[in-house]
Amino acid sequence: MELTDYRERFPILRDTTYLINHSLGAMPAAAEERVLEFTRMWRERGIRAWGEGWWEMSMTVGDQIGRIIGAPPGSTVMHQNVAIAEAIVVSCFRPVDPHRNRVVYEEGNFPSVRYLYQAQPELDVVVVADDQAIVEAIDERTLLVPITHVLFKTADIQDIEAIIRRAHEVGAHVVLDAYQSAGIVPLDVAALNVDFAVGGSVKWLCGGPGNGWLYVRPDLAEVLEPTFVGWQAHARPFGFEPELEYADGAARFLTGTPNVPALYAATAGYDLIEEIGIERIRENSVRQTQLLIDLCDEAGFEVGSPRDAARRGGTVTVGAPHFEAVHKELAERQILCDFRPDAGIRIGPHYFNTDSELEFAVAQIVEILESGAYERHLGAAARF
Ligand SMILES: Cc1ncc(COP(=O)(O)O)c(C=O)c1O
Repeated sequence: MELTDYRERFPILRDTTYLINHSLGAMPAAAEERVLEFTRMWRERGIRAWGEGWWEMSMTVGDQIGRIIGAPPGSTVMHQNVAIAEAIVVSCFRPVDPHRNRVVYEEGNFPSVRYLYQAQPELDVVVVADDQAIVEAIDERTLLVPITHVLFKTADIQDIEAIIRRAHEVGAHVVLDAYQSAGIVPLDVAALNVDFAVGGSVKWLCGGPGNGWLYVRPDLAEVLEPTFVGWQAHARPFGFEPELEYADGAARFLTGTPNVPALYAATAGYDLIEEIGIERIRENSVRQTQLLIDLCDEAGFEVGSPRDAARRGGTVTVGAPHFEAVHKELAERQILCDFRPDAGIRIGPHYFNTDSELEFAVAQIVEILESGAYERHLGAAARF
């Protein structure tokens, strides 16, 4: 099957040039059927639905994420978002040892990650400029190293192996945010020997909101004791026992009642990623992001993403003049992409996009600038 044959599975591609898969991946039509299956279960099976799959979904859906990120079964659990997943990781280290209370992270981390660590009064947060500087900043005082596989602003792939190696030398733990890589850039958390990995499904996994995930290295999952817990983390949740006894493995990193409707919606996107295979998706993505770079070069636009394919994720950041206003005009023309301050327009094609859509989008940016069509949007605020 050709990759473009998958286009018919994504209804929004009929009406738009959908190049915003780094922000909200296109919805597979099958996601709607699965949400209807959720309501059917609720309507017809009622309370019995918990025993017919609902209760275990945080783990079973987590196992499907695990297959995509190279995690063994039973090591990945579902949560609402990255902020919660990271908060659970931090909670494992409470009370914080005052001699090992440092968090070293990169300024390119996503705000959820930055804000969460900044807000913990007992942690000493050190912010550094890039992946190289992280390695240098890690020492015996370092407790956690929250890093990002692919930076959200520039799609820069980070040298995570060197960071993990250095962190482990001094007994620190690495928390890898793989939100911008899962589903588009190959990732093998087991081979990397990373301690924790987090991400979500809104973007390249095309799984929709409410489907964050947390991987914990199996040997750590046996010994760590999260202090942010709920009854799903208990060894015998239906015993309703007064004292907490942690479940084995990743289940102890669960909290309360799972987000069942979101979990139903999520798997349609994951199924397609598994069916096509991440290597094939990456090969197409490298080719298409190179095509975008070539088109930008021809048009004379600055390219903010790495030119070296080995360092480039799935998005190309285009530093076109007046990019905020140009973005607004593109949206009115049904060309969906976004922009980030100080970065430019972000264009994120996925496996179902065609080369001619990319050519069309860049040609439209050129036309919008040349014709002055962007001028009426100058000064307008946009959020997405
Ligand atoms: C790298 C990265 N991490 C995290 C997030 C989102 O964090 P949260 O799940 O807390 O909304 C995003 C984008 O929304 C992202 O690009």
